[in-house]
Amino acid sequence: MSVGQQTKETPRPAEEAAALRAMLDTWAHEYYVLDAPTVPDAEYDKVFQRLQALETEHPDLISPGSPTQRVVGAVLDGLVPVRHTVPMLSIHTETDTTPAGAQKFDASVRKLLGWAADEAPVEYTAELKFDGLAINLRYEQGALVQAATRGDGETGEDVTHTIRTVAAIPKRLRRCNAPVLEVRGEVFMRRDDFDALNERQREAGGKTFVNPRNAAAGVVRQLDANIARQRPLSFFAYGFGDVQGWEMPATHAQSLQALRAMGIPVNEDSTVAAGAEGLSAFHVGIAARRDSLPFDIDGVVYKVNDRALQQQLGFKSREPRWAVAHKYPAQEQITTMTGIDVQVGRTGKLTPVARLAPVFVGGVTVTNATLHNIFEIRKKQVRKGDSVIVRRAGDVIPEVVGKVAGNRPAYVANFHMPRQCPVCGSEVVRPKGEANHRCTGGLFCPAQRKEALLHFAARRAMDIEGLGDKLVEQLVDAGIIRTLPELYKLGVAKLSALDRMAEKSAANIVAALEKSKQTTLPRFLFGLGVRNVGETTAKDLARHFGLLDNIMDASVEQLLEVPDVGPIVAESVHTFFAQPHNREVVEQLRAAGVTWPEGPPATRTQLPLAGKTVVLTGTLPSLSRDEARDLLEAAGAKVAGSVSKKTDYVVAGAEAGSKLDKAQALGVTVLDEDGLRTLLTTAAG
Ligand code: IVH
Repeated sequence: MSVGQQTKETPRPAEEAAALRAMLDTWAHEYYVLDAPTVPDAEYDKVFQRLQALETEHPDLISPGSPTQRVVGAVLDGLVPVRHTVPMLSIHTETDTTPAGAQKFDASVRKLLGWAADEAPVEYTAELKFDGLAINLRYEQGALVQAATRGDGETGEDVTHTIRTVAAIPKRLRRCNAPVLEVRGEVFMRRDDFDALNERQREAGGKTFVNPRNAAAGVVRQLDANIARQRPLSFFAYGFGDVQGWEMPATHAQSLQALRAMGIPVNEDSTVAAGAEGLSAFHVGIAARRDSLPFDIDGVVYKVNDRALQQQLGFKSREPRWAVAHKYPAQEQITTMTGIDVQVGRTGKLTPVARLAPVFVGGVTVTNATLHNIFEIRKKQVRKGDSVIVRRAGDVIPEVVGKVAGNRPAYVANFHMPRQCPVCGSEVVRPKGEANHRCTGGLFCPAQRKEALLHFAARRAMDIEGLGDKLVEQLVDAGIIRTLPELYKLGVAKLSALDRMAEKSAANIVAALEKSKQTTLPRFLFGLGVRNVGETTAKDLARHFGLLDNIMDASVEQLLEVPDVGPIVAESVHTFFAQPHNREVVEQLRAAGVTWPEGPPATRTQLPLAGKTVVLTGTLPSLSRDEARDLLEAAGAKVAGSVSKKTDYVVAGAEAGSKLDKAQALGVTVLDEDGLRTLLTTAAG
């Protein structure tokens, strides 16, 4: 083998590292900026690991711009001050939150420019005002060399170590080698990332964050970059600091476009708007979408688009005259908490709810807000009479995020969760290791009734066709149905007296109810809605115990003997059947005629199709997919979703697709419905 060939097959380390970095940068750009990944994550990881290995072997190849330098192990002693080459200014805020606020700004710009009323409208860019913290990113020769907070505008803090963990911020610009390019923008946390972070903190008993902005600020100023890496931040650019050796485009909109082309995230909602009217329309349009944005904004920002006009307008007391922030109503307000009530949710969860002196927050008047659970109340130390901070962001329910220190009226008792459900009086429990209290009333508790009825009627449970949302709502609200067994007392007369219910549909529902009485034990058990008992667990329990009475009387220890049943499931099954009302419901359902074939407990291996795996595909002439599955499972077969070498049979109906092709390719036995029936009868015989 010649030397030349060798070089071709194993490139020199420096070249390989450069090639790998280019690949990783491209993929990161596609993923974070274009939102259109072209390779699976695993492929990215593989290349990333190769680059890491290469850099470990040749440490001289490591450069600050390398994607591997995102993770920094060192914990800093403190943040180091950074003097901004170009001060980071603030902007004037327009607090008139109505669309008219835009007119004031436009009028002042026109006046300063000396434009007559009949002259063309001023062109602006309108952007979102992201609610995070301002960051200056310094790129030299296209590589990110420093990131700093705003600080007092003159001097900020060096946060390069945490900013390097922000995946959306490129370590290297695309097609830009300018000696100096400082990009300014906002680092923030998306609402879903914020909720997930707080959820994790709550579970771990750690500190929760008041809002995404505080969380983001905390992450950016973290001394330990590895903690920062686990708390994802996002970034959008909106401006520039020091720029050397790069020609700034003529308009702000073009500048943003240029940044985007370099791989810097720029929000899609920024637009070019004409005059006051264009700005107001933007304000209104964004207001309507504010709740559904994935992140918090506290307003919009208008900027004169033309840079020459910006220069003409200049600054006043360190604020540009060519830009304004036009606010929306705040998403956090202070008000008095007049008391704490407890609400019971559809799943039986008890939620402490703060009663509040009415307060306008996030665009609506709020009179109550969630306190989540008892632990959150203790952590926030809120009591009746306190001044509290209420947050309402997005379309999520308002919450109390904290209290204003030091103004509690004397002698206010601590809050305790009730021992009895405030709705039905059943015992309240807090399952081990959980933060939430729950009502054990189950089907008996009116708060849980609608949900319980819908679950009972569901296709995978009792399969009562026609008993949907609207009907259940009417039946419960009109007080016609209080418990599950009362469903079976419904007659055509009672049903057709309801709103929008013709006699024909009423008759159909009565027929569906009648039909549902012939069921299976797993369906019935699943339909009861025992917490943590899904379809599979219901099947496991039915198979193990055979008879419903055995399940109802089983101790936690006996329940734990069921394969795949752990302590959480065992506990909730036991608690459910320990409640006299739940047992009564079961008895009444049986008395109403609900029945299923019961047999002595069977072990899986005794069943005729035990150990066989079957895949269903296409539409069978007379059996529905669920019916076929029930029959197969009752015979002990496992019904799987995809065909493999381990599949014993594929049951194919009309319009069977790729699963049938695969079965044929692998030589798996294919059956039609008749074949399935034969299999079931011969297996049973
Ligand atoms: S422009 C000289 N644009 O709001 C102009 N600021 O009070 C500098 N902000 O400190 C700011 N979104 O943290 C601008 N689209 C946007 C913004 C924005 C959020 C923040 C930024 C700034 C503050 C202005």
